[in-house]
Amino acid sequence: MKRGRWPEFGPIPAILPPRRKKRARRVCGFGGCSYAFIYRMAGNTKDGPVLEAEDLSKSYAHVPILDGVSLRVERAERVALMGPSGSGKTTFLNLAGGIDTPDSGSLRFEGREMSEMSSDERAALRRTAVGTVFQFFHLLPTMTASENVEVPLRLLGMDRAERKRRVRELLEETGVTHRAEALPSEMSGGEMQRVALARSLAPAPRLLLADEPTGNLDSATGQRILDLIESVCRHHGTALLMVTHNPDATRICHRVLHMRDGRVAEAGTPGSAKGGAEHRA
Ligand SMILES: Nc1ncnc2c1ncn2[C@@H]1O[C@H](COP(=O)(O)OP(=O)(O)OP(=O)(O)O)[C@@H](O)[C@H]1O
Ligand SMILES: [Mg+2]
Repeated sequence: MKRGRWPEFGPIPAILPPRRKKRARRVCGFGGCSYAFIYRMAGNTKDGPVLEAEDLSKSYAHVPILDGVSLRVERAERVALMGPSGSGKTTFLNLAGGIDTPDSGSLRFEGREMSEMSSDERAALRRTAVGTVFQFFHLLPTMTASENVEVPLRLLGMDRAERKRRVRELLEETGVTHRAEALPSEMSGGEMQRVALARSLAPAPRLLLADEPTGNLDSATGQRILDLIESVCRHHGTALLMVTHNPDATRICHRVLHMRDGRVAEAGTPGSAKGGAEHRA
């Protein structure tokens, strides 16, 4: 059997079950998506931006939050998104991750219009190509570190031995092998964020969305998490879109964007960008 390669992550079967031609149209655990779609998402290697938003708008209860947002994140590029509290940063990440849908405008993931994807396809995208790290970690409280990291791999239908191998690799890469059997309640904030990062990287995403990943950590731990995010993104060629209020955190990024009045603009150079801790009037 001919095996495809994922340029940054090695052979596709390391992440997904082996591809069989006859099964290409069979539906899988993503509630109706064909394996063909999953493989296309998982193995897409074409050039061009990973994420491209054009004139994107979103309102909640008739209050405009995003009002013509345009931005691009290139392959393997690391971009910081700053802005006042309430300016719509998380709202934008939710659109980029396919959790929510825009009212108007265009949002393309690797050239594919997200509004044309079904909700199952968007869910598949989240599970194969886009990883998310949250400020409050969002680990499943009754599962150990390794079980948390294993969840996305189970959803991909990966077999047990392969899952265990990949979980070991991820915990090692994020420096929490010694906490593999610990529950979230037994871990420090820094350890929880490492485990959450390992989980977000499990399906080998090509875009990592991070929403204030150091916002709930002391400054030294936050610095170590930032170094880790930079190193895993650099090593795997993963693009990063990171929301932060901390100007120092932008040092790991190539570009800094600022969100204000529902729009996004370039803002200074990494490491020197102005903070966004002010609040919306
Ligand atoms: N599901 C929702 N329903 C109604 N309003 C919402 C919803 N989600 C967000 N909002 C509102 O949209 C605005 C933008 O919220 P968002 O969470 O995107 O801000 P943010 O820039 O991430 O802020 P912070 O820096 O405090 O996290 C806020 O006024 C918020 O109350
Ligand atoms: Mg937010």
